Amino acid sequence: MSPATPIREPTLRLCRWTYAALLLFCAAFPARGDSSFLVNTVPQNLDNFYHDLRERVASCQHNLAGGFYSVDNGTNTTSYCTNDPHRPSIIYLSGGNGTLSNMDIDCDGVQGGSQDDGRCSLGRSPDYQDATAFRDVIQSYNVGISDLNTYVHPYVVFGNSGSKPGWRTFDPTEYGVRPLSVMAVVCPGNKMVYGIWGDTNGDDGDKPMVGEVSIALATACWGKNMTGDNGYDGMDVLYVAFTGKDAVPGKNGADWAAKDYDTFERSIQGLGDKLVQRMRAGAGGRKVTSSWVVAGGVFAGGLWLAL
Ligand SMILES: *[C@@H]1O[C@H](CO)[C@@H](O)[C@H](O)[C@H]1NC(C)=O
Ligand SMILES: *[C@@H]1O[C@H](CO)[C@@H](O)[C@H](O)[C@H]1NC(C)=O
Ligand SMILES: *[C@@H]1O[C@H](CO)[C@@H](O)[C@H](O)[C@H]1NC(C)=O
Ligand SMILES: *[C@@H]1O[C@H](CO)[C@@H](O)[C@H](O)[C@H]1NC(C)=O
Repeated sequence: MSPATPIREPTLRLCRWTYAALLLFCAAFPARGDSSFLVNTVPQNLDNFYHDLRERVASCQHNLAGGFYSVDNGTNTTSYCTNDPHRPSIIYLSGGNGTLSNMDIDCDGVQGGSQDDGRCSLGRSPDYQDATAFRDVIQSYNVGISDLNTYVHPYVVFGNSGSKPGWRTFDPTEYGVRPLSVMAVVCPGNKMVYGIWGDTNGDDGDKPMVGEVSIALATACWGKNMTGDNGYDGMDVLYVAFTGKDAVPGKNGADWAAKDYDTFERSIQGLGDKLVQRMRAGAGGRKVTSSWVVAGGVFAGGLWLAL
């Protein structure tokens, strides 16, 4: 038997450079929805979970509180759900029967700055309030901002409070979700944005509503056609909150004083990635084979580069 022909050194080197260039390219150009608003692709385990909910494989695993509305003139079938009622690690919204939530726009907090293009100006937001729910916490960070800015911070309105008789409420802190913790928002079309739990739904309207985010977050998902009075109507947006102190970036773990959305989003990306990875693979029971194959391939490729 003749010995196998060895691959010639220059060829090998060329392959290595090509592989390295490809990895760099993929890292430098993540999926983008709008030219100036960073959006991520959905990690495999979260994508599986999303589809399990949509296809009613998992649906609402454990219902913590129901009777909420995502659409004003819709049904009250939206619930806060969890993966485990005894030790919840995630809390998410489910609209029932394979639906999730829509995405309305919240303009609360401060405005202004280089990204304020008027889309959230006062006249355009039906329920504008000058403060977000955790403004005191933001101020206690002492990082030079007095409140969240809807154009900069990708905040999510989560939890329902109110004192009207018979009003449906839900307080995520009772289950271990902490103010200003990182959340994951999945928009259809393989788009994911890390958000901050930054506000709560009040009882100023007629019905206990859910499914609202800052204009920065909505713009990352849908583009600049989002305004204070025009959100996204599809019932297929997933909002996931994470319990525990690990989900809180705190004073130093995020660039709170960032001047633009991209800078802020990048500052919470590492923490968001960790939280999503922590979600039990196949929360809805599916295997995550394909992501392991990809990860294994990249790892093997990395070894090959290093040798
Ligand atoms: C939904 O609304 C109906 C009619 O208004 C009411 O009877 C029912 O109790 C509500 N469901 C929940 C879960 O709140
Ligand atoms: C709900 O209201 C919107 C706008 O106000 C309207 O376009 C839609 O058709 C209504 N849906 C239902 C089910 O009444
Ligand atoms: C649930 O969704 C399916 C299809 O998406 C629909 O055919 C069915 O009528 C829905 N059921 C209810 C109770 O809304
Ligand atoms: C916003 O605009 C984009 C493309 O410009 C379009 O694909 C999308 O459907 C629009 N979204 C809404 C909610 O109007």
